[in-house]
Amino acid sequence: MATLATRSIATPFPLPPLPYPEDALAPVISAKTLSFHHGKHHKAYVTKVNELVAGTEFEGQSLERIVLATSGRTDHAELFHNAAQAWNHAFYWLSLKPKGGGKPPAALVAAIDAAFGGFDAFKKEFADAAVKQFGSGWAWLVSDGGTLKIVNTTNAEMPLTKGQTPLLTIDVWEHAYYLDYQNRRPEHVQAVIDKLLNWEFAAGNLARA
Ligand code: FE2
Repeated sequence: MATLATRSIATPFPLPPLPYPEDALAPVISAKTLSFHHGKHHKAYVTKVNELVAGTEFEGQSLERIVLATSGRTDHAELFHNAAQAWNHAFYWLSLKPKGGGKPPAALVAAIDAAFGGFDAFKKEFADAAVKQFGSGWAWLVSDGGTLKIVNTTNAEMPLTKGQTPLLTIDVWEHAYYLDYQNRRPEHVQAVIDKLLNWEFAAGNLARA
């Protein structure tokens, strides 16, 4: 599981492998986008974290602990940004799967119905959050004290620092879709929601929340 991988103590951190082949999410996300996104962007965040923690108090700590320890600290802003982005991307890959989308497992449907008034209403609200995120950032489905919420974060920010448990995320940095969709973020977001979301991953995260 991504959460286990990202919580493990293993500096220098490896780049977590994609949980599917690079071409497995096409045509929604092309192999070219996945190759750059994982092999260049995600890798750069991991590499930078390893550079920044070497020889410091953070060496040997889990990625999650580093994120929580550096959040809001201007003296560690660069480490926070790169560690959070390394964590966010590991979580993002597992939020997607080939032939995903569709309906969540029953326990999650009940929680979604209670929070959003139905699955269709949830999908619309999640898409709106992802589309309307101004600039770079993320849209998340989280559990906040047992209640499901949709939240946005800017740049590298993420829900763990606010005490929320992430269930799913969509990366809406331009690098996530620009090669395939150029400026058509709404088209990308809708296709991800309808065809790629990994609801079993979300249900597992909720069960552990
Ligand atoms: Fe990204």
